Amino acid sequence: MNEFTWRAMAACMTVLAYAALCLHVYWRQRRLHLANARAAAVLAGGDGQAEALVLFASQTGQAEALAWKTARWLHEGGTPSRVMPLDEVDAPTLRAARRAFFIASTYGEGDPPDGASVFAERVMGDRTADLSSLRYAVLALGDRQYTHFCAFGRALDAWLHARGATRQAERIDVDNGDASQLAAWQAHCSGSAPVPQPVSAEPASPSRPWRLLRRTLLNAGSVGSVGGPIFELAFTPATDGAATWRSGDIAQITLDTDPGRPRDYSIASIPTDGELQLLIRQERHRDGTLGAASGFLTSTLAIGETANFRIRPHPAFRLEGNAQRPLILIGNGTGLAGLRGHLRARAAAGSHDNWLVFGERHSACDFLCRDELEAWRERGVLQRLDLAFSRDQEQPLYVQHRLLQAHEEVGRWVARGAAIYVCGSLDGMASGVDAALKQILGAQALGALAAADRYRRDVY
Ligand SMILES: Cc1cc2nc3c(=O)[nH]c(=O)nc-3n(C[C@H](O)[C@H](O)[C@H](O)COP(=O)(O)OP(=O)(O)OC[C@H]3O[C@@H](n4cnc5c(N)ncnc54)[C@H](O)[C@@H]3O)c2cc1C
Ligand SMILES: Cc1cc2nc3c(=O)[nH]c(=O)nc-3n(C[C@H](O)[C@H](O)[C@H](O)COP(=O)(O)O)c2cc1C
Repeated sequence: MNEFTWRAMAACMTVLAYAALCLHVYWRQRRLHLANARAAAVLAGGDGQAEALVLFASQTGQAEALAWKTARWLHEGGTPSRVMPLDEVDAPTLRAARRAFFIASTYGEGDPPDGASVFAERVMGDRTADLSSLRYAVLALGDRQYTHFCAFGRALDAWLHARGATRQAERIDVDNGDASQLAAWQAHCSGSAPVPQPVSAEPASPSRPWRLLRRTLLNAGSVGSVGGPIFELAFTPATDGAATWRSGDIAQITLDTDPGRPRDYSIASIPTDGELQLLIRQERHRDGTLGAASGFLTSTLAIGETANFRIRPHPAFRLEGNAQRPLILIGNGTGLAGLRGHLRARAAAGSHDNWLVFGERHSACDFLCRDELEAWRERGVLQRLDLAFSRDQEQPLYVQHRLLQAHEEVGRWVARGAAIYVCGSLDGMASGVDAALKQILGAQALGALAAADRYRRDVY
């Protein structure tokens, strides 16, 4: 055989191998799709004739997870239902539905999350629609730290009421995942008496002074206009009394100069480290001035001086019921903070079934906490470490691409019970990862993971 024939054969083999891979991915997606469709059909009742719609408006997945839980509670109470994103319905669909349960979060200046912007603009913009045939209930998710508390859920409720729909129950406004408010919603959906809950299972601790021990620049030499320097800050309590928290929790600072808006920072250490450690990116405004909180912490505050932090429990991002499960931890930039907190807790507990997928820009200068991560990989605390440095090659490479490349392994980890934690930027990363996970596992399987608290996000 001459060289031309060899080359032609090699090309044929490559094409055949690629076709086989495509076929495999297709069948796998098809199987997942059918399994998901079966699960949705069970919730919608045997004949698929759902009696209610469960509609969610979600940015980071909490409302979506609660929508699937709501469908389960309704199913247990004898009401088959269908779960849909709010953007996929219009006024005629609402008119035709006999009952609808809305679960909606709020962002920005009281705005809807991305997944409801079309509905907010097109459907809620219609002031003439007649929805008098509809009975509904609204669960509004929000956080009292923000000026416009639960504003989108409230606007949705007011619009439905104004369009003639009948409130089946008073709207429930949930402050930062408050358990008693969620229990009241569960009771409403399942038709049972409310389960008594402590008013606030674990209140945030009061603000207290913390002394800055150390500040270390983690990305020296990082270049480019996007993203500023990232520092690790280490604090110790400046007053008597032990400080405690769990991995996944938040340290919150309120500035004297801006008392209306506290800033959250994911805690990157565990109490047995003896220090409260944070990873903070120095924000710089277009006019050249530094971000109010990040500038104060990374520049103005001198070593030995104190800053007031409140430790805020963050149950939605803690390990809790996932402590014994394998973990897939995914994040970028300062998102490593929340993931590092979990990995330190796992290392201390001897739980080594961990896979970290971390992304930044350049491996040479943005490989945050490199020594610690590589040591974990060598000691087996990390079974797998995947890195995505977006600018190390011509084509940008992000954490979601790493997940897609390792799609079979992601499926295997999830099949053996893994929980998925995502921490870092809302813009780009969180939505990209969400889309990749939907592609790999299927939208309904991911919804089911979220409903089972096995898909948790701390994104900002
Ligand atoms: C749950 C959660 C966890 C978080 N964890 C972390 C973490 O671990 N690490 C981390 O670094 N960050 C984290 N953040 C982000 C952090 O809370 C702050 O939002 C961030 O540090 C910026 O705050 P700042 O006060 O420095 O900036 P701000 O002064 O509030 O500025 C932020 C933005 O506001 C606009 N802006 C404000 N003032 C001006 C002005 N004068 N001119 C032009 N534009 C302006 C700009 O768009 C600017 O980029 C987290 C956020 C959340 C919600
Ligand atoms: C960047 C950001 C902005 C937010 N803005 C508001 C707000 O204006 N009002 C409010 O009540 N809650 C606000 N929240 C809280 C969210 O609505 C709340 O965490 C909700 O549970 C998120 O649900 P989701 O994951 O389904 O999007 C904000 C949260 C973040 C991270």
